[in-house]
Amino acid sequence: QPLPSLVGKHAIVTSGPTHEPIDPVRYIANRSSGKQGHAIAAALAAAGMRVTLVSGPTQEPVPAGMDFKPIESAQQMLAAVDAALPADVFVGAAAVADWRVASAADQKLKKGADGPPALVLTENPDILRTVSQHPKRPALVIGFAAETEKVLEHAAAKRVRKGCDWILANDVSPETGTFGGTHSRLFLVTAAGVTPWPHSAKTDAARRLTHAVAEYFSTMRDA
Ligand code: C5P
Repeated sequence: QPLPSLVGKHAIVTSGPTHEPIDPVRYIANRSSGKQGHAIAAALAAAGMRVTLVSGPTQEPVPAGMDFKPIESAQQMLAAVDAALPADVFVGAAAVADWRVASAADQKLKKGADGPPALVLTENPDILRTVSQHPKRPALVIGFAAETEKVLEHAAAKRVRKGCDWILANDVSPETGTFGGTHSRLFLVTAAGVTPWPHSAKTDAARRLTHAVAEYFSTMRDA
């Protein structure tokens, strides 16, 4: 069901976790199934957008009809996003690791008399923030905020701090079952305020987001 204001426009979606190598066989990762990001990529493509999906390792099938860029680390994710610009829309649904091991070992670390290795961590690039400040900034930059407390307050602050346009705030308290689950409870946070969305399947949330994006671009066109 193509949506006229979206047809032919380009969306970049990040999804899944990132894996930050410790050595060739070990990594640090964030908890993310990729279900929400992949569903958003599929819904935008179904509405007629050209979609680039940049994703870390997930169990999700690659949705048909898009440009799929598999990556592992945050640095690789940023490079793939950068290479895919320009775009009209960016959706950062990936759970990017905030830190990576400063110098990953070339060879497998061995257990030994020295005891466990100490990992020195360094900050990863913030992809959402980088895209929000990019010379090729998409017209609409959308991020997620996975929070366990003061969900709306933290999300509104995050929207301003990151410089993005919209934040989808997600209550990921363990009792909500959001992580790895099929359903979520989202709030759309924009400059104009907060719109609560019904508790729904991640695929429904993806369609709802797609309609909100379509409405944004049809208002732009009429303006
Ligand atoms: O700061 P926090 O990780 O809570 O922000 C979440 C949002 O920022 C998500 O949209 C996520 O994809 C994005 N993000 C990013 N790069 C990072 C960290 C988060 O793009 N290094």
